[in-house]
Amino acid sequence: MAAKSPSCFPLFPSLLLILLSLASFGSQTFSVHGLYIREATISDLQLAFKQNQLTSRKLVEFYLQEIRRLNPVLNAVIEVNPDALYQADKADYQRKAKGPGYYSGLHGIPILLKDNIGTKDELNTTAGSLALLGSVVPHDAGVVSKLRSAGAIILGKASLSEWAQFRSLAAPAGWSARGGQGKNPYVLSATPCGSSSGPAISAAANLVAVSLGTETDGSILCPASFNSVVGIKPTVGLTSRAGVIPVTPRQDTVGPITRTVSDAVHVLDAIVGYDYNDQATREASKYIPSGGYKQFLQAYGLKGKRLGIVRDPFFTSGSGSLQLQAFEKHFQTLRQGGAVLWGSNSSLAEFKLALNAYLKDLVVSPVRSLADAITFNLKFSGVELIKEFGQDIFLAAQATNGIGNKEKAALLNLAKLTKYGFEKLLTDNRLDALVTPGSDVSPVLAIGGFPGISVPAGYDKKGVPFGITFGGLKGSEAKLIQIAYGFEQATKVRKAPTFLP
Ligand SMILES: *[C@@H]1O[C@H](CO)[C@@H](O)[C@H](O)[C@H]1NC(C)=O
Ligand SMILES: *[C@@H]1O[C@H](CO)[C@@H](O)[C@H](O)[C@H]1NC(C)=O
Repeated sequence: MAAKSPSCFPLFPSLLLILLSLASFGSQTFSVHGLYIREATISDLQLAFKQNQLTSRKLVEFYLQEIRRLNPVLNAVIEVNPDALYQADKADYQRKAKGPGYYSGLHGIPILLKDNIGTKDELNTTAGSLALLGSVVPHDAGVVSKLRSAGAIILGKASLSEWAQFRSLAAPAGWSARGGQGKNPYVLSATPCGSSSGPAISAAANLVAVSLGTETDGSILCPASFNSVVGIKPTVGLTSRAGVIPVTPRQDTVGPITRTVSDAVHVLDAIVGYDYNDQATREASKYIPSGGYKQFLQAYGLKGKRLGIVRDPFFTSGSGSLQLQAFEKHFQTLRQGGAVLWGSNSSLAEFKLALNAYLKDLVVSPVRSLADAITFNLKFSGVELIKEFGQDIFLAAQATNGIGNKEKAALLNLAKLTKYGFEKLLTDNRLDALVTPGSDVSPVLAIGGFPGISVPAGYDKKGVPFGITFGGLKGSEAKLIQIAYGFEQATKVRKAPTFLP
């Protein structure tokens, strides 16, 4: 991107320096009393807290230093929280007061939030767009309240594909006007995928302990896959979407992006549950097992599970190894459903309605409607790329007029595809989950509100990571966690990033 602007030439030597410093990365291991923070899991960190080897302040200082060092290249973080060190001191004080081992889970653990997740603090919530800079949210997002109650430290806002990729099809994955172009930390020239690019890059590159992303269709699973991290896309409604800049409430969901399945489960346990401000959480809270999800982190979690294996590419008829002859047809049908989805009049209309409601609810905002945002983009000349990438999705959404007959027909079609496609496939074959390479299955999971987990599965010839996705029926998180954890423990594929050009 920057190559288009002449001002990038003076920057070049410093970029080179940063790349050189990345090259010598391996030798700069940071440790406190022999504890290596890089690649540490939440369990490692909690143990270090307990043994007085580490404080939350030290941890936050480490991540802030890493963000300063690496973010100029990776563009994964848009803002750091000026209150993060204060929150760390508070966690350290509480731990001291209650004694070691009293707190667990996310207490004292720093987390980065995708920039479409609202926080009522010094941080801005902008979906990466300049149009929302200076807007003031009415309250913390539902998931943020839960994170604060769990004692997590809000480290800052992570970058994303602007407006969660719902402004323009032409905008590159991981790019936003505020965040710039996010980079894949394994191979800098490879896509980080989107739209939760920043959370995935940050977790992968150890800019933070754990992060939170959102998904409407593929926005957690795809960046998790491309950045060699774990992403959980929960059943729609399992986690509250209140206070999150919406795309479509029918599909939007908030979930963890972390380096390990166990870390993701710690985050999931903290954020699931009923929220008065999101009615979908009432229905979905029935899925939450008593005792939470940690109990499903079992080394033998794969035992006895029936998995539908979809070979790559999963549309061609080479996948006859299982009894799932119907696979092809079902998937083709569903894929078509997914392809219809993004251009479908129903999600465009849903987006307009949901976004207008969100913008109206803000305490202060430069834009109050989708129409305002479109006008803002047209007028705004400070960032050439806004003009270049256009706003085709915005314009198409603006042209809709509520949920009419056309939209109802499209919604019915999606419901049918789900019932006679994915649901039938899993039920008829008594499958616990479907296994697919990368995140190709995401449209299928998206239209039905189904959960999925992406786990690192390998690196291609160039060193670009790829993941494997386990998708299941609504509320099947417990099973998916058993499968994902079993797979992860059996394979241990993930390596820290290499920063190859
Ligand atoms: C939020 O945006 C304002 C500009 O409107 C800026 O001055 C402020 O520093 C931003 N907050 C943070 C935490 O970066
Ligand atoms: C949406 O509606 C417009 C106007 O009726 C139509 O031209 C277009 O084909 C529709 N798009 C889809 C994907 O159905």
